[in-house]
Amino acid sequence: LVWVIAMVKIKTCVFISGQGTNLKNLILKSRDCSFPVKINLVISDNKSAKGLNYAQKYKIPFLLINTKKKNYENKVLNHLKKNKIYLICLAGYMKIIPKRIINNFKGKIINIHPSLLPKFKGLNTFSRMLKNKEIKAGCTVHFVDEKLDSGNVIVKKMFYINNSDDEKILKKKTQKLEYKAYPEAIIKIFKNY
Ligand code: GRF
Repeated sequence: LVWVIAMVKIKTCVFISGQGTNLKNLILKSRDCSFPVKINLVISDNKSAKGLNYAQKYKIPFLLINTKKKNYENKVLNHLKKNKIYLICLAGYMKIIPKRIINNFKGKIINIHPSLLPKFKGLNTFSRMLKNKEIKAGCTVHFVDEKLDSGNVIVKKMFYINNSDDEKILKKKTQKLEYKAYPEAIIKIFKNY
């Protein structure tokens, strides 16, 4: 029975640029036979991304891409096709996804962002939150469209900021929520699949 369920898992590719702790979390969650996706491919634009170690450790094929190369998206699309990828999860991927990839994967690309969107789109979320004297922080999993950090929200999780929280602590607290939010969002998307 486990084998049969594993066969129908959604083939998923995770895009990373850095630490890859969300990648690791998704890999571990996907080992649960009731979790709807399997991570079949990892794509990184950074050859020194620490997250690539998780791809290696868990024997997941990975692809390094050079986003400075003209038409690099063809290589990406070929690999996605070859691996029969259905869902793309961005997890700390620091580049803009080209229009051609978005058009080929309409409604099938999701991202996790370390703020309560629509607040604090873009980079340096924690320093801007502190500067703004925000009361709440959190994370958002959303669909990716052509505008930055703007697609429909799937899951949002928040916590109250303490006076003593600095950027480092905010990041730690946010990431703890991210490890719950990303799997929850994936389960929500595929609950009627
Ligand atoms: C996460 O905080 C995510 O919200 C942001 O980038 C960070 C990636 O962390 N988009 P990691 O690489 O998964 O550890």
